[in-house]
Amino acid sequence: MRKFLMSTAAVATLLAAPMPLAHAADSVEVLHWWTSGGEAAALDVLKKNLESQGVTWKDMPVAGGGGEAAMTALRARVTAGDPPTAVQALGFDITDWAKQGVVGDLGEVADKEGWDKVVPAALQNFAKHDGKWIAAPVNVHSTNWVWISKKALDAAGGKAPESWDELVAVLDKMQANGITPLGHGGQAWQDATIFDAVVLSLGTDFYKSSMIDLDPAALGSDKMVEAFDRMAKLKTYVDKDFSGRDWNLASAMVIEGKAGMQMMGDWAKGEFLKAGQKPGTDFVCIRFPGTQGAVTFNSDMFMMFKVGDDKKPAQLKMAADIEDPAFQSSFNVVKGSVPARTDVPDTAFDDCGKKGIKDLAEANSSGKLFGSMAHGYAAPAAVKNALYDVVTRHFNGELDSKAAAAALVEAVAAAKG
Ligand code: BGC
Repeated sequence: MRKFLMSTAAVATLLAAPMPLAHAADSVEVLHWWTSGGEAAALDVLKKNLESQGVTWKDMPVAGGGGEAAMTALRARVTAGDPPTAVQALGFDITDWAKQGVVGDLGEVADKEGWDKVVPAALQNFAKHDGKWIAAPVNVHSTNWVWISKKALDAAGGKAPESWDELVAVLDKMQANGITPLGHGGQAWQDATIFDAVVLSLGTDFYKSSMIDLDPAALGSDKMVEAFDRMAKLKTYVDKDFSGRDWNLASAMVIEGKAGMQMMGDWAKGEFLKAGQKPGTDFVCIRFPGTQGAVTFNSDMFMMFKVGDDKKPAQLKMAADIEDPAFQSSFNVVKGSVPARTDVPDTAFDDCGKKGIKDLAEANSSGKLFGSMAHGYAAPAAVKNALYDVVTRHFNGELDSKAAAAALVEAVAAAKG
């Protein structure tokens, strides 16, 4: 029989090791991609809220807007059999993980707190799987927004554009005024975020048939060629250094008055607020011209993984905290998003936030609320990535608009398998 001997040094090291600060029972490990200034400020609201109740936060940030890098990191952890407690995730990614049988069950908290009654059906479609709550929705963002520097707009005539033609006229004036009209970062998910709005600006039926139903006739239509023409036109307004730029640096260009506007989801508002800017005074928020009344949404959800019984209480506490109405208000005021519950008052929100809450409710009741393609709420990752690829190749001038529309049809068909 082999004897297992420990050296004196090893025993000494063991005895000297500090006691862990928190037991698994009162700590959560959270994977997320909230690394910009505004995002980190919002994350802090969640973190502090939990810490005030004795739950220790183990941070696992993975930078990269849209969350692609975070999802790759997650895959590695799950494959190693060691998933984090909670993971920021979007739409179809949540459904994909649920299908693999690795997610937890939040039923205990959700039933007690009545989530079914206050979380809109459009979110429940993703936060529940097989009738069970598996994720806690923290917010609702939307992608069809434009963030305009007030100073640059005033210098360009002062009137916020309401149609495509008016948008082009304002961009032209900004160019003539010597600034970069469009602050943008050339990353596939950012190109795709603008594409969401551009497709929607050509009609809600068109957005639905092409991005949600993935109808080949819509994907390859003349309207899609027009959508790509609009993308090509927008490309003429970005600066020469746009390639690879992070989205928050594009926001900073608008904040500093170097660029006129940014077409981005309302997480951009978090950057303006973090920089001390105020809506109406320093910046203006409008729906992408031609999309008024409609909303392409994405909701950040904390998807909960199957964890040991020791970790479950902290996981459930985190889920309950996230759905707390007061937290939903204080968090979303900072994040730029709107509450994931329909019963949270808009009193603490600024004008853009109030508009976001109203737009969401109206779009929901008029049938004009659609999942964002760019942020995982229109199609599963394989299809989303196929769409990203074509949109980016076209934006970078590798395909003309006709070829891009044809490529979309093929890419989607191949991705659907
Ligand atoms: C998320 C936002 C995040 C943004 C940029 C989106 O996919 O929903 O919460 O701020 O990516 O990182």
